[in-house]
Amino acid sequence: MDAKVAVITGASSGIGEQTAMAFAARRYAVVLAARRMDRLNGVADRCRQLGGRVEAIATDVSDGGQVYRLVDETVKRFGRLDVMVNNAGFGVNGRVWETTEDQMRRIMEVNFFGVFHGCRAAAPVMIAQKSGHIFNVSSVIGKRGTPFNGAYCATKFAVIGLTDSLRVELAPYNVRATSVCPGLTQTEFFAHVEGGTEKKESSFKAVRTRQSPAVVARRIVASVGRNSPELVFTPGGKILSFIGPLWPRFTDWFMRFYHNDLAENVPGHDT
Ligand SMILES: NC(=O)c1ccc[n+]([C@@H]2O[C@H](COP(=O)([O-])OP(=O)(O)OC[C@H]3O[C@@H](n4cnc5c(N)ncnc54)[C@H](OP(=O)(O)O)[C@@H]3O)[C@@H](O)[C@H]2O)c1
Repeated sequence: MDAKVAVITGASSGIGEQTAMAFAARRYAVVLAARRMDRLNGVADRCRQLGGRVEAIATDVSDGGQVYRLVDETVKRFGRLDVMVNNAGFGVNGRVWETTEDQMRRIMEVNFFGVFHGCRAAAPVMIAQKSGHIFNVSSVIGKRGTPFNGAYCATKFAVIGLTDSLRVELAPYNVRATSVCPGLTQTEFFAHVEGGTEKKESSFKAVRTRQSPAVVARRIVASVGRNSPELVFTPGGKILSFIGPLWPRFTDWFMRFYHNDLAENVPGHDT
């Protein structure tokens, strides 16, 4: 029987890299997508060493045409598509009024439209197969907004809303859709965050523990075929996603307490 096939976007580092390796270790054929081909080729070599068949395809997920080509190439090469992990993303820091329209549009193009393109490309293939699983990587702060992360949170909330709709639409075709909501994870993500203030950096430092991306990867792989609406990881993440919607006023208070520097001056900005 042919191996199962997984496409992973944002596979050149972090959660995407670990997810690609976890699928390769289970003998999936993996198709890796990201913009940095040098990094992608390195991950491809490591996946091959685990025994899986591997393709690396340069893809900018903000361009729908490139994402549809990614899925087309996968189906041409391997004949099927069993798992689509829409993982590519980046962060923008800053208060809502400090966020430029250009920043908001660019982060939406990658974190939300990248996921949307991946769903549009993968769903018809999986519906025709009558099997498949789409994982859309959101965040635990796609469940409850946090200060200094308004743009990022908006993209991640959008991903969860899209995935909730998609999951119910795909159910009659035996195709699954799951939102993945990691908490702070030890990856290059923080080195690529745009905007930012000294305060935001200090807020991140206050959270000392970051989970390994391998934990997220293992959970994604273990959830294939399961009807899981969402994957939430750390105990803190579970508490936030439960209490946030239930007690928004208490959660606001906690966030103000936690970010006790909220009203201080930000260099270069008037408050
Ligand atoms: N780290 C955390 O604490 C955390 C927590 C919750 C959720 N997440 C989410 O997890 C996902 C993976 O992040 P990570 O932590 O693994 O960070 P990372 O190591 O920086 O990985 C981000 C990946 O996205 C790719 N990417 C960025 N823009 C892209 C674009 N326009 N087209 C294609 N690929 C693009 C990058 O590859 P190229 O630069 O080579 O294109 C890279 O492979 C993101 O969606 C992030 O929002 C992370």
